[in-house]
Amino acid sequence: MKRSNGSSRLRINSDMDPLKAQTSPGHHRSSSPSSKPTKSTILLIIASFTIALGLLIGCYSILSSGKNRRVSLRYSVIIDGGSSGTRIHVFRYRIESGKPVFDFGDENYASLKLSPGFSAYADNPEGASESVTELVEFAKTRVPKGMLKEIDIRLMATAGMRLLELNVQERILEVTRRVLRSSGFRFQDEWAFVISGSDEGIYAWVVANHALGSLGGDSLQTTGIVELGGASTQVTFVSSEIVPPEFSRTISYGNVSYQLYSHSFLHLGQDSAQEKLLESLHNSANSTGEGKVPDPCTPKGYILDTNSQKDLPGFLAEKGNFIASLQASGNFSECRSAVFAMLQEGKDKCTYKHCSIGSIFTPNLQGRFLATENFFHTSKFFGLGEKDWLSEMILAGKRFCGEEWWKLKVKYPTFKDEKLLRYCFSSAYIVSMLHDSLGVALDDERIEFASEAGEEDIPLDWALGAFILNTAPTSDYSGKSRKILDLSKYKI
Ligand SMILES: *[C@@H]1O[C@H](CO)[C@@H](O)[C@H](O)[C@H]1NC(C)=O
Ligand SMILES: *[C@@H]1O[C@H](CO)[C@@H](O)[C@H](O)[C@H]1NC(C)=O
Ligand SMILES: *[C@@H]1O[C@H](CO)[C@@H](O)[C@H](O)[C@H]1NC(C)=O
Repeated sequence: MKRSNGSSRLRINSDMDPLKAQTSPGHHRSSSPSSKPTKSTILLIIASFTIALGLLIGCYSILSSGKNRRVSLRYSVIIDGGSSGTRIHVFRYRIESGKPVFDFGDENYASLKLSPGFSAYADNPEGASESVTELVEFAKTRVPKGMLKEIDIRLMATAGMRLLELNVQERILEVTRRVLRSSGFRFQDEWAFVISGSDEGIYAWVVANHALGSLGGDSLQTTGIVELGGASTQVTFVSSEIVPPEFSRTISYGNVSYQLYSHSFLHLGQDSAQEKLLESLHNSANSTGEGKVPDPCTPKGYILDTNSQKDLPGFLAEKGNFIASLQASGNFSECRSAVFAMLQEGKDKCTYKHCSIGSIFTPNLQGRFLATENFFHTSKFFGLGEKDWLSEMILAGKRFCGEEWWKLKVKYPTFKDEKLLRYCFSSAYIVSMLHDSLGVALDDERIEFASEAGEEDIPLDWALGAFILNTAPTSDYSGKSRKILDLSKYKI
């Protein structure tokens, strides 16, 4: 089990105790008239008494407001069952004038991730209990002991789990429920579930717009989100086009209601797409019977050592046999074409005005966008600027794909093969998805890659959006989440 926090946010002040109200004892003004009471002395006494009373009332209200502040600190815990790992988020927030105030600074937010993700336990669901137990222990150190029973703990799993058979998902969830039931936190069985891809997109959109200060404001001033995950890709934004109901979601926040386009492209996350491409190249090898087939998405000179497949990215480790049938031929343009052909598959079945990827409808992108997760990681790897990064990505991808494998190994000595093997593919995939398929101009400055947003550098993690939407009293979003035993409604 690998432990990582992935950000500096793990550290949290050990003093997570509720704020203690600072109060000082009231001063009693004493006036002791030595002479016999005169009218003025009596007045003075009355005045002193009044002042003393005023001070007492003042002190009392400071004390009681201190008490209120104490009472109004709340906590919430969300476990994100992702494809590459399981991350727990512990949130602290306060209620002011009946409204929650969110702050994701170190004192109010902590997270911890353990690898691998739940989907690695498909053959051994019981194995999932170990990581959940450790994560729960972490959460307990971040909240006041006496409050456990009042703190909700929820577990939401994403694409890695969505790819598993339904009964396997349920078995893994059941193991996690057992741990959560006895965790001491407040928990109900239906709080551990697999969320839909578009819920994930909505939550990511919520946290981004919260961070940017646009949540609760004009719909057309909001920022869209494109997320390239490991197993799926989400596109979520406000569109003024007419959006077919299957892609349309409504959320309200404050007194504003947002009509969003949201879609999750399952199997088109970076890892799943790379696996899919290699598999189809392999199949074409077999059908032509020509032995090795060129693989333009892997730099020249890479030879799979079939005896040690551990160097392959995890999701490919068991597919070594089909990779062995490929000849690394590193060529960005060819890789981009191969990827584009894959993204277009199924276009003949398009039943909408137009389709972007396969037979899926996406309105024309509109407004500003943040490109997160693997869009961000790949841009960072190539050291791209935040603006103009799509056109820079082509240049960087051409250089990287066309380089000899051994030279790359020298240039990136700290990278394991499994990491380095991703970047030729991902550079081509990103250009093909955003530009060739979704129509983002290469020099479009309205799309920025990011992992955090806003002045407070709030992490663009969907779990934060789920927390915000669950907690805000004036928000309303009936997610399309599959609740337990609601199997009939479930479709991938
Ligand atoms: C609701 O909208 C009005 C204007 O339309 C605005 O003045 C008010 O502040 C909003 N209230 C909240 C709670 O957002
Ligand atoms: C090639 O395809 C045939 C059937 O079409 C199959 O039996 C064989 O196992 C395949 N070979 C490889 C190397 O996958
Ligand atoms: C990459 O492939 C394209 C198209 O097949 C070809 O025109 C180009 O010369 C190749 N680039 C390199 C560096 O081999």
